[in-house]
Amino acid sequence: MTSFVRHGCRLATVTSLLAAVLSVGIATSVQAGTVLITGANRGIGLEFVRHYADAGYTVIATARNPSTADDLNTLAVANKDIHVEELDVNDFAEIDDLAEKYQGTAIDVLVNNAGITGRPERQRFGTIDYGTFESVMTTNVQGPLKITEAFTSHVADSDEKKVAVVTSSEGSIAGATSNRQPFYRASKAAVNMIMRNISHTLKDQGIVVVLVNPGPVDTDMMARARGRMPLRTTILAVDEMVAVIDNATLNDTATFYNFDGTVLPW
Ligand SMILES: NC(=O)c1ccc[n+]([C@@H]2O[C@H](COP(=O)([O-])OP(=O)(O)OC[C@H]3O[C@@H](n4cnc5c(N)ncnc54)[C@H](OP(=O)(O)O)[C@@H]3O)[C@@H](O)[C@H]2O)c1
Repeated sequence: MTSFVRHGCRLATVTSLLAAVLSVGIATSVQAGTVLITGANRGIGLEFVRHYADAGYTVIATARNPSTADDLNTLAVANKDIHVEELDVNDFAEIDDLAEKYQGTAIDVLVNNAGITGRPERQRFGTIDYGTFESVMTTNVQGPLKITEAFTSHVADSDEKKVAVVTSSEGSIAGATSNRQPFYRASKAAVNMIMRNISHTLKDQGIVVVLVNPGPVDTDMMARARGRMPLRTTILAVDEMVAVIDNATLNDTATFYNFDGTVLPW
């Protein structure tokens, strides 16, 4: 009998411990908040989805062609907190519609990740293709600006209040010591400038802007560099960038960060 009571007590303790663990688990997942990621179907964007989903966040994972986003859709099937949404960062109507759809949803971290380089042969001085220049600037500069504008109220309503831009050390004017990818470089310098400007307005709402360089990462964007330079994994790059995003404060808003948390020269 004594043994039965003791055993019963132990069982009760185990049950209540299990309930406590479960409730902590649920509370953690609720507290983890919500993140929206652009260009979430492959490369660094897809890794951001994995990272934040694993950390218990609700993820609004956007891609311009969800029907062909197989890797992302597979993640979303396995995790009901990943919501795949169609979003071309150049399509203002689509951006406004998505912002409207999520009206009332607090977005803790808005990750402006989508980007393009433009083909190198179209950026050669003497035979410049100005249409390519326009599309690189539109995607890499206007896109993050418009998305940030559309989702500012969602971010302002959140706990973390972070707007991140995956920029590039290629946007460092001090670092431009040769003529390489001028459209891409100009676009990343421009997105740094525009986000630094609007950070002064966003600061009034408690929103922190984080400009972060992932370093050379093994994605489709860097396919030509494979075997020619060391490339980092998306897992490492995203782990490090999330740490930079987590640590950023209003006091250092719109600082140009490297993945390791050091500051890059403009
Ligand atoms: N990889 C690196 O070494 C490196 C270094 C520095 C900075 N970055 C920056 O990191 C970010 C991600 O690059 P990545 O390496 O992951 O490149 P990636 O593998 O080429 O992926 C680019 C992503 O952006 C999306 N995208 C392009 N244009 C879009 C548009 N108009 N609307 C919505 N999505 C669009 C692509 O979607 P689709 O599949 O539909 O094309 C794709 O999901 C970029 O901003 C890039 O400049 C990368």
